[in-house]
Amino acid sequence: MTDAAFARPYHIIVFGASGFTGQFVVEEVARCAAESPGSLQWAVAGRSRQRLEAVLRRAAGKLSMPELRTDVEIIIADVSIEESLAVMCQQGQVILNCVGPYRFYGEPVVKACIENGAHYVDICGEPQFLERMQLEYHAKASERGVYVIGSCGFDSIPADLGILYTQKQFKGTLTAVESFLVISSGSEGSSGHDATWQSAVYGFADSGSLRQLRKKFGHKPLPVLGAKVKKRGFVSFSKEIEQYAIPFMGSDPSVVKRTQRFLYEEEHQSPIQYSAFVGVGGLFSVVKFFCGGLLFGFLVKFSFGRKLLTTFPRFFSFGLFSKAGPTEKQIENTCFSMTFFGEGYSEGTDPSQGRPNSKICTQVIGAEPGYVATVSAIVQAGVTLLNEKHSLPKRGGVYTPGAAFYKTSLIHRLQNHSIKFSVRSYQ
Ligand SMILES: NC(=O)c1ccc[n+]([C@@H]2O[C@H](COP(=O)([O-])OP(=O)(O)OC[C@H]3O[C@@H](n4cnc5c(N)ncnc54)[C@H](OP(=O)(O)O)[C@@H]3O)[C@@H](O)[C@H]2O)c1
Repeated sequence: MTDAAFARPYHIIVFGASGFTGQFVVEEVARCAAESPGSLQWAVAGRSRQRLEAVLRRAAGKLSMPELRTDVEIIIADVSIEESLAVMCQQGQVILNCVGPYRFYGEPVVKACIENGAHYVDICGEPQFLERMQLEYHAKASERGVYVIGSCGFDSIPADLGILYTQKQFKGTLTAVESFLVISSGSEGSSGHDATWQSAVYGFADSGSLRQLRKKFGHKPLPVLGAKVKKRGFVSFSKEIEQYAIPFMGSDPSVVKRTQRFLYEEEHQSPIQYSAFVGVGGLFSVVKFFCGGLLFGFLVKFSFGRKLLTTFPRFFSFGLFSKAGPTEKQIENTCFSMTFFGEGYSEGTDPSQGRPNSKICTQVIGAEPGYVATVSAIVQAGVTLLNEKHSLPKRGGVYTPGAAFYKTSLIHRLQNHSIKFSVRSYQ
């Protein structure tokens, strides 16, 4: 990208600022900009001036920053109007894209960013979209020197960077990691906003396309180093987190695998076998999840079923998602922990011989995942991209957070912003 790209009026543009998540991203960017006044120029973008003004008004009141109402520029851009995206992208160095579901709205934004020389960061948790963007746009982005970095929210920064952190702390060759996610909430429970539910409904309905997509990459399987990890059953009691756990169905395994492939191919690092689980609680919760999962799996197959699921998110998700999204109290009282149990071979031991002889347990903990941790993650990813381009992969391209940021200070930045990484034990 030419130097002209940096003579742009804004370092960061928050696109989709009027959305449920976008409004919190706006607040976080405002806080960040206030930390070093004058050094971060930013704007908000979306399709409705009125709604964007309302977001700035709310943020101004909440943060006691009346200047937000007058000093933050509004850019009108609509995903369905190509020229409007071009005009937006020509004004910013980094676009934080909060317009989802990404399978419906993401591609024109990626395309406009690449064509107009703006770097792109999103909070997508949809493997089909993320992998397809890599397949179809990596070469173009690389040619233009543009970084397109998806899944920089709770999906999948804690998992992807958590693995890299664990690997760094391990003295020897780490060969396998299992992660266990536990979400804890207060008496009112926790919930997610409708757009994430829609992403899940349409993602599951289209899960077959992922296999086709992966074939098109023509990748050879990654080599398995060290002892092959024994697979757990679909539901297993995990003594690690003292509750029942099921495989985590989000984008983490897909994102981590893409990062591991990048590090293996580009940096000659040994790949790590990875499985992700989520704690569901006691037996009653297992039965509830099982019944809900069966119904969900059946309904997503039909357009009428999808209509039902997306019309009544609260009912079909047992209150986990709603059109209104979580309340302030729910957000305040929710937090997450992702615990990583790794094994491998101590320094001087050959991973091709015998059983692993060393273990490590690390943890990534943080505030409410969907709208606090996610917001910190996307904003810090954007700021890291702005400030540490010299530490990113040499060429532009479509990258996972781990591939893009493994040489940067992003983990350190997150430690100061709602997401903490630590070693729990080492044997
Ligand atoms: N990775 C994570 O952990 C994580 C966490 C939270 C959210 N997310 C993802 O983030 C995305 C947004 O979620 P949300 O709950 O914030 O959704 P939302 O409240 O529905 O917000 C969607 C945003 O997109 C905008 N938009 C829709 N169509 C548009 C168009 N044609 N042109 C321009 N803007 C358009 C909306 O603008 P209007 O206001 O004008 O309608 C709104 O600003 C979803 O894909 C969700 O899954 C991921």
